[in-house]
This record gives sequence, C-alpha cells and structure tokens, in this order.
Amino acid sequence: MTPEPDGRLGDRVVERVVFPEAEIDRRVGELAREISAAYRPSDRLLVLGLLKGSFLFMADLVRRITLPLHVDFLVASSYGAGTVSSGEVRLLYEPRVDLGGRAVLLVEDIVDSGATLERLVPMLRERGAARVDVCALLHKRLPSVGVAVRWVGFDAPNSFLVGYGLDHAEDFRHLPYIASLE
Ligand code: PRP
Repeated sequence: MTPEPDGRLGDRVVERVVFPEAEIDRRVGELAREISAAYRPSDRLLVLGLLKGSFLFMADLVRRITLPLHVDFLVASSYGAGTVSSGEVRLLYEPRVDLGGRAVLLVEDIVDSGATLERLVPMLRERGAARVDVCALLHKRLPSVGVAVRWVGFDAPNSFLVGYGLDHAEDFRHLPYIASLE
C-alpha cells in the first residue's frame, strides 16, 4: 500500500502501511465495546494514558467507552531518540489523583520489551488501585514480556512502527495510520 503524502519527511518516507486508518478505527470500536462491558460505574474507572505514544489512541478510545470515567496521563520514557528500547524507564509525570479503590485502565500504544509495564503496573497497584488492567493498541508478543495485557488491538510485527502516536525521534506521530520504517 502506498503511504499518504504526509508520510514523507525530508528525504525519509514510511516504507509500508501496516495498519490502515479504517482498520484501526474498527478495532478501537471493538476494544471500547469490550471495555465498556467489563466495568461498572461503581468501579470509578480511571483511564490512564501513557504519553506521548498513546495520545491518539486514548482520544479515540475514551470517546467510545460508554461508562462514566476520568482521564489522566503518565509520562514515562524508555527509548530516547534511538530505535531500540534502552530498558530504562523514567517517570517524568504522574497523576496526583488518589487511586484508592479505583479501577485503573492503563492505555499503552505498544508493548515491546514490556519494561514500561513491568515498572508501572506494580506501582499503580502499590498506590491502592483496586484493579489494574492494561489495554495496548499493539503488542509485539516478545516471549520475555511478563505482564498480562488484557486488551490488545493488534499483534505487531517486530519492526520499527510509526504513526498514530508512535514516533521515530519525534517524527511521524501525527500519521493517521501505522507504518513500518523498515
Ligand atoms: C515507547 C512506547 C511504549 C514503550 C514500549 O515509549 O510508546 O510506551 O516505549 O516499550 P517497552 O515495552 O520496551 O517498555 P517511549 O519511551 O518511546 O515514549 P513515547 O511514548 O513518548 O514515544
């Protein structure tokens, strides 16, 4: 499939569209329906988006969840400007809201090494969340990942993906589809 013209940036161009916009839209709708059925209003659902990568997915997902919910964000960083995860997870921003007794849904754009979730899920549990579930748009399904991800949008190829929130050195986040740089 041919990338849209805005997939070009300088002399670089995305190589291959892996998940087109319509397919993402359809799958986000399915995830939202499943999530809506999995909680009750009394769970006081807090949907926590991991920035920056989840910003478009979060916006599309929460608009289609038919439950009362609150929205907040975490900023964690593991990649720097490279294409390989460094394994270090730094927390740059976290919500000040009391998690006590609440259901937390952590929304991630992509699970790669799993290091980000392995750090954040126990932290949210330690802060008193009654329940912590993870929804990831993409999952590379690497065997080393030890955290359960309840909702997965798509199994991802083990290549460097960009678009729909995912970046390479901050480029390509705005693309409405997901493409491979390799
Ligand atoms: C990326 C991606 C995930 C995480 C996945 O975030 O958005 O949050 O790494 O990798 P892992 O499973 O190996 O931990 P990044 O640190 O690049 O920040 P960003 O969301 O701002 O792009």
